[in-house]
Amino acid sequence: MVTLQSKLPNVGTTIFTRMSAMAAECGAINLSQGFPDFEAPLGLREALARATMEGHNQYAPMAGLPALREQLAHQLQVTRGVRVNPDTEITVVPGATEGIYCAVMASVRSGDEVVVLDPCYDSYAPSIELAGGVAVHVPLSEDGFTPDWQRIRAAITSRTRMIMINTPHNPTGSTFTVQDMDELERLVEEHDLLVCSDEVYEHLVYDGKRHCSVLQWEGLRQRSFAHYSFGKTFSVTGWKTGYCVAPPALTAELRKVHQFVAFVAVTPVQQALADFLAAEPNYPQGLGAFYQAKRDLFIYALRDSRFAITPSSGTYFQLLDYSAITSTPDHQLCEQWTRELGVASIPISPFSQEPPERQVLRFCFAKSDEVLLQAAEILCKI
Ligand SMILES: Cc1ncc(COP(=O)(O)O)c(C=O)c1O
Repeated sequence: MVTLQSKLPNVGTTIFTRMSAMAAECGAINLSQGFPDFEAPLGLREALARATMEGHNQYAPMAGLPALREQLAHQLQVTRGVRVNPDTEITVVPGATEGIYCAVMASVRSGDEVVVLDPCYDSYAPSIELAGGVAVHVPLSEDGFTPDWQRIRAAITSRTRMIMINTPHNPTGSTFTVQDMDELERLVEEHDLLVCSDEVYEHLVYDGKRHCSVLQWEGLRQRSFAHYSFGKTFSVTGWKTGYCVAPPALTAELRKVHQFVAFVAVTPVQQALADFLAAEPNYPQGLGAFYQAKRDLFIYALRDSRFAITPSSGTYFQLLDYSAITSTPDHQLCEQWTRELGVASIPISPFSQEPPERQVLRFCFAKSDEVLLQAAEILCKI
């Protein structure tokens, strides 16, 4: 029997796969994995059907369809006020996860350290390890899951190459402030670091706040790979398509990796996205209000529950603090409630090297109002 010495000995089946499988097995309401249970805009689905019927079925250019990259450059100018060259600074990729992997592969060498802020999305550390780097885990502050700049500074060494950030933040729903971005800019300039900025939930920001993108801080923009996902913005997570924005020299290196990992993203999907954005350029700007209404419905329906709730500032995730109910560890409680109550969520401890002290579970509110109300009714009975 041939065996391999694992390059990722600590990686097993992801928590998303496990909890979604358990939810299906138990017939539970699935508020675990982050995907909408409603359809993507009709115009977008029709555009995909049209794209395949009209013959957009062969390889796209490696960097992505020019028509889509032009739409994206226009969007970035309108929503973030930044000018981006679609030819040299935008690369369409098969999902933000692939974009992040390519950015890390292009930047990190053996022994380089990369600072990640825990809890963090589960693809970061394996990408760093596969590049031969070392993930240096720094916890976010436990109260509001915001960056603790003192601890981040203390973690920087002469080997630090990159810092990975994620705003709006999965799994906690926190967001970076202008002050956080200023701090980050000072830090990376002082230590000559690169930034891998995961902004896949850029449009899902609430209560009048604005998304802070690395593209809007000149000192950050020069050193950053900024990652976006059409899956999140257009409710098509299964289309696995995203894009990366980076200055020309960084983009050139990212593309060298991308062309041998995937080479291209799916052509008709790119064509459909380009057509849809041309027809409905304001669609992404309506998302914040749409998801804020869902967040508020969910929280209001839980007002008589025993959970402590701080409304999420961004993403489509809401943390519920269960410390007044039980001291059971989050991963156990999550499985117990999926089986016994029929509501599946996600524990946040698998996203951290050191288990966080806060007793919270993550619930996805990208679901129909009926499903959210049904889940809340069950959760109120605890
Ligand atoms: C923070 C974060 N980054 C990246 C991704 C992956 O995006 P994509 O499906 O485009 O690879 C997700 C998906 O859940 C996410 O939550």
